[in-house]
Amino acid sequence: MSRILITGGNTGLGFEAAKRLLAIGHTLYITSRDPERGRLAAAELGCDFLVMDVTNDASVRQALTHYRSLADSLDVLINNAGIPGDRRPIETVDAALLETVFATNVFGAVRVTQAFLPLLQRSDNPVIVNVSSGVGSFTKQTDQETLESKVISPAYASSKAALSMLTLQYAKALPNMRINAADPGPTNTGGNFNRGAQSVTEGTEAVVRLATLDQNGPTGTFQDKNGLLGW
Ligand SMILES: NC(=O)c1ccc[n+]([C@@H]2O[C@H](COP(=O)([O-])OP(=O)(O)OC[C@H]3O[C@@H](n4cnc5c(N)ncnc54)[C@H](OP(=O)(O)O)[C@@H]3O)[C@@H](O)[C@H]2O)c1
Repeated sequence: MSRILITGGNTGLGFEAAKRLLAIGHTLYITSRDPERGRLAAAELGCDFLVMDVTNDASVRQALTHYRSLADSLDVLINNAGIPGDRRPIETVDAALLETVFATNVFGAVRVTQAFLPLLQRSDNPVIVNVSSGVGSFTKQTDQETLESKVISPAYASSKAALSMLTLQYAKALPNMRINAADPGPTNTGGNFNRGAQSVTEGTEAVVRLATLDQNGPTGTFQDKNGLLGW
């Protein structure tokens, strides 16, 4: 059984993924940027929680120190924390919006990965799952048959495209690990303004599958609930 850390585990897809992974016997550590939301979620799940704002170096360092007091290795890191950003008329999309969205969705994932990498390297089966999005897929955005091709959300879409590329880069640089990107698909959570058609169970299929890969599992892939996706 694995020790699994999931960022933004206090609600939405992160909470559901934690619940499902706990139910099959893994040891879960959720993170929350808000201590009270984290405490309540962890109490409901029955797991440990760490306070962590992924946009803040000191906060991630403190969370790492806290984690080290609980365990000396980590098997699975799920970079789930993310924000949608505003959907605005393109004329008002500015660098500040992109900086805000990238701060969480891209730089946050890199910050947490770098901090926890030494602990992952102590695992016999280190795994990273980056929760990306089909909205950030060039394949889906250019296929008129997909819902994602109808979405114009430059900050969010480009942040997830960047996270997917980072997944591929880390996978190539760290071939001893299984490092993959997951697309939950449009799911009914606060992060999707409660507009997604899918349940959180469907939305966590790919995350749970990729978090539970064995040493022979794939790395450097992008997957949704049905399997492989085009980048
Ligand atoms: N729902 C969908 O349709 C969908 C589709 C594709 C991809 N995704 C991705 O799936 C992931 C989870 O989304 P969700 O739908 O479950 O959204 P959600 O319900 O809004 O949950 C997002 C989680 O991320 C946390 N978070 C946000 N900013 C953070 C920060 N700076 N530091 C630490 N934690 C932070 C939130 O904390 P607070 O509770 O404090 O805000 C919350 O726990 C995201 O990466 C999202 O982009 C979602």
